[in-house]
Parts: sequence; C-alpha cells; structure tokens
Amino acid sequence: MRFLVVGGGAREHAIARALELSEAEIVVGSANANPGLDRLAVRSTRLDPTDPARIVALARAERVDVAVIGPEASLAAGVADALRAAEIPTVGPDRAAAQIEASKLFCRELLARHRIPGQPKWVAPASVEEADRAAAGFAGPFVVKPSGLTSGKGVWVQGSDFTEAKDGAMYAKSLLLQGTRVLLEEKLEGEEFSQMAFVTDSGIYPMPAVQDFKRALEGDHGGNTGGMGAYSQRDHLLPFLPAADRDRALEILRGTVEALRAERLSYRGILYGGFMLTAGGPVLLEFNARFGDPEGVNALTLYEEGDFAELLAGVATGHVDPSLLNFRQRATVVKYLVPPGYGDHPRAGGVLTLDAPAIEATGVHVVYGSVDAAGPGQVRFTSSRGIALVGEASAIHEAGARVESALRYVKGDYYLRHDIGTKEDLARRWEHIRRLRAPGARPSPLPLSVASPDAPPASHGAPERLLSSPAR
Ligand code: AMP
Ligand code: GLY
Repeated sequence: MRFLVVGGGAREHAIARALELSEAEIVVGSANANPGLDRLAVRSTRLDPTDPARIVALARAERVDVAVIGPEASLAAGVADALRAAEIPTVGPDRAAAQIEASKLFCRELLARHRIPGQPKWVAPASVEEADRAAAGFAGPFVVKPSGLTSGKGVWVQGSDFTEAKDGAMYAKSLLLQGTRVLLEEKLEGEEFSQMAFVTDSGIYPMPAVQDFKRALEGDHGGNTGGMGAYSQRDHLLPFLPAADRDRALEILRGTVEALRAERLSYRGILYGGFMLTAGGPVLLEFNARFGDPEGVNALTLYEEGDFAELLAGVATGHVDPSLLNFRQRATVVKYLVPPGYGDHPRAGGVLTLDAPAIEATGVHVVYGSVDAAGPGQVRFTSSRGIALVGEASAIHEAGARVESALRYVKGDYYLRHDIGTKEDLARRWEHIRRLRAPGARPSPLPLSVASPDAPPASHGAPERLLSSPAR
C-alpha cells in the first residue's frame, strides 16, 4: 500500500516508521526537509501542508491508497475534506469535525449540548465587559484560553502565568480586542494525561495512556509549550492513573464521537483527549484531532510490527479490525531536544551534531522533529522542537535513563528536561493524586459537573444515549 504522510515533524516521522515496518510505501508532503522522514520516503515534496489543492495534486500524481494528516493546521485548512472529495481515503477528520480541536468554544458547546460529563466550569465572554464579569465570577483561580489553535502556547493559568484575577481579565480582554474568542475556565487541580484513540465508523480503538510535560522548564516551571517530552507505562496506564479513571476518559471520548455523529459530523482519524485527573475523576481540558506530539511518538514506538498500514487503512475506510490494535507492553520515555529559549524566544538556526547510528545501537530511537538536514550527521533547528529521543524499557525510569545515556552522542547548543521519567518525578505525581484523593482531603469542587452553568442551554441531542451506549 502507498501512503501520503502530510507534515514534517516527529509525529509524522513516528507514523512513517510504523508504516515502514508494515512495508508500506511512503510519500511525504511537508514544509521542512526532515532527514528521518525523507530517508523513509520513496519521494518527499516540499509544500505548504495547509494547501489542500497542492496536497490533492500530490496524492493523485503519486497514486496513493491512503493519506494520513499529521498537523492540526492541515485539518483546520480543510485538507481532509479536499482529499475525500478526490476519493482518497484519509486518516484525519474533515474541517467541520476538526473544530473539536480548532475551536475550544465549539468543543465545550458540543459537550454541553450533549451533557457529556467531565467538564470544568467555563464561560465564553463575548465582550470586554463580560470578560470582567466572568473573571470576577470565579470563586477560585481560573485559566484563560484563546478559542483557536495556539500550539499549546496561548493558555494562561492563574498562579503560573498570572497572579491576580484582574491580570487574567486583562489578557482575556486583549484577546477579545484582537478579535479572538476566549474561554475562561476554573483551574483544575490534579495530574494531566493524554488518552488517544483511533476513531472510525466502526468504533473507537484506544492507545496507551501517556503523560506529556507541557511546561518548558524542569519542575513544571516556565511557559506552556507543545510538549517537552512524555512517558507511558508498561500496562498502558500511568503510575497515578487507575484503570477505572482511564475507562471514564474513554467514555468521554466515546460520548464525544457519538455527539459528533448525532450532529452529522463523521470522524475518521485520531481523537486525543487531554485530561486532568482530579480528585473527582478525569476532567477534559481539550481535544486534539490528531496524534499528540510527543504522545504519538510514545504510542507509535510501541506499535507491533506488521500491520499498521492495514490499521490506518481501516480508519480511513471506516472499518477497523480490532485484532490490529497491538501495542507492546513496554514503558517509553520521549525527551525532546529543543532550541535554546524554546517556549519563549526560541533561537532558530543552531546546528546539532548527532551520531544517530550510535544512539540507535544503544536501543534509543532517534525521531526527527521540525529540523532541516544540515549535512552528514547534522541538523539545523527551526524555532520548533528538534529531535525526540525515545527510550524503551520495562520500567519508566529505566527508559528515561536510557535517553540520558544517549546524550553523550549529541553535540550542540540545545535544551532538554532531564526530569521527565525520573523516579523522583513519578513519585511526586503519584503522591499528588494520593494526597488529593485521601479521605478527608478537601472535596473536589468538581464532582464531574455535567455542564457549565454558563453553557448555552441544551438545544438538541439525546444525552442519555451517550452515557449508556455499549462499549464498542
Ligand atoms: P489546553 O490547550 O486547553 O490543553 O491547555 C494547555 C495547558 O494549560 C494544559 O495542558 C494544562 O496544563 C493547562 N490547562 C488548561 N486548562 C486548564 C484548567 N482548566 N485547569 C488547569 N490547567 C489547565
Ligand atoms: N503534546 C500536546 C499536543 O500534541 O498538542
């Protein structure tokens, strides 16, 4: 089978690696010359990944059987719609369904209309006056989010990104004055996790749970980023995440796909739920309409050899054979090498020298992100995340240690978070949830409220069907 992979980051390199193991032919369309992807591809074309006409022309010229869209910007630009209109089976939702990621307001309103549990209190002020009132209306700390795509960098959390409620209100107002819709949400306390699933007409098919590290600096300091690294556990849960809570998160994913379907929005692609595990259970922070980056790198590293091409073809054509859902029972740790200043003022253009064969020989995978080839064994940073190093072992901290020991084969000016996947960090997160859930702990302000009091009234949908729908 011949696949078109759209996008040029580590997520797309990880997709291409898994496809290559099933002996698929790969054609790449990306803006940058990713050396890892280009090596796997029979042909690699530089293009704007948000240009639907150009991508359809490439898919036709290359006679691909299936197209896989990596980046959210391509989905938001209607690339999947154009490919399907050209009768090319595609992994990635149409623009209308991809709003689940591209518009946080669409997402919250959809979930409120269909009474899907696990939502925080939220409000979407339509004017600067309303923003002041909304900020004053929260009893505790809150979060300000632009509604649109921001690569994870536009969200301001009280206590981390601003101190006083009035500063949050100022930020919300400045966004509104630029013409951006904005959401204010109560600040949730807990541990974040990502739960991804393949979604198609025949149901949802879960991947291992992953914890991403969003903040730029060690100890979860610094600004929010696209993700500095991530880990997954051997049993596909997480040290702080019991199966019952993972299953509640999957119910939220399932209910959301049903809600989209009830609104006549078909979804064939990847659905990624970003959750906060609170004292009261998982609460949805956001959806993404694609593999997470880096979470997709963790999950796809675990995909068993042999049939990823068939799995993706099944997603694209509407029927997945559940026996294709094979993820190895191993722990993974991904750490990103990023340009100095990443998260705030990244310095593009720096050159990294790495001995990839020596790293691979230690059992650590080199997954290339948004870098350009710069000569033998060298890559040039763009302003985005550069190289993902992936360690695999039976325990998470061992996988992390493997990545650390591979760093001796990397030279250049880069930054990475050493704390990802250490025993100390894992213990801290486990303890955090234990403390939140201890008998006598302050009860969660958030007992899985059905919807925000500020949400628009439910206008249609059949909520009970969603929660009682049999597991598929
Ligand atoms: P989002 O793009 O909505 O996932 O937000 C980016 C990051 O901001 C999340 O990964 C969290 O770290 C943080 N965040 C978002 N919403 C909340 C919330 N309601 N409470 C606490 N932290 C949040
Ligand atoms: N790691 C978060 C994301 O892919 O958006």
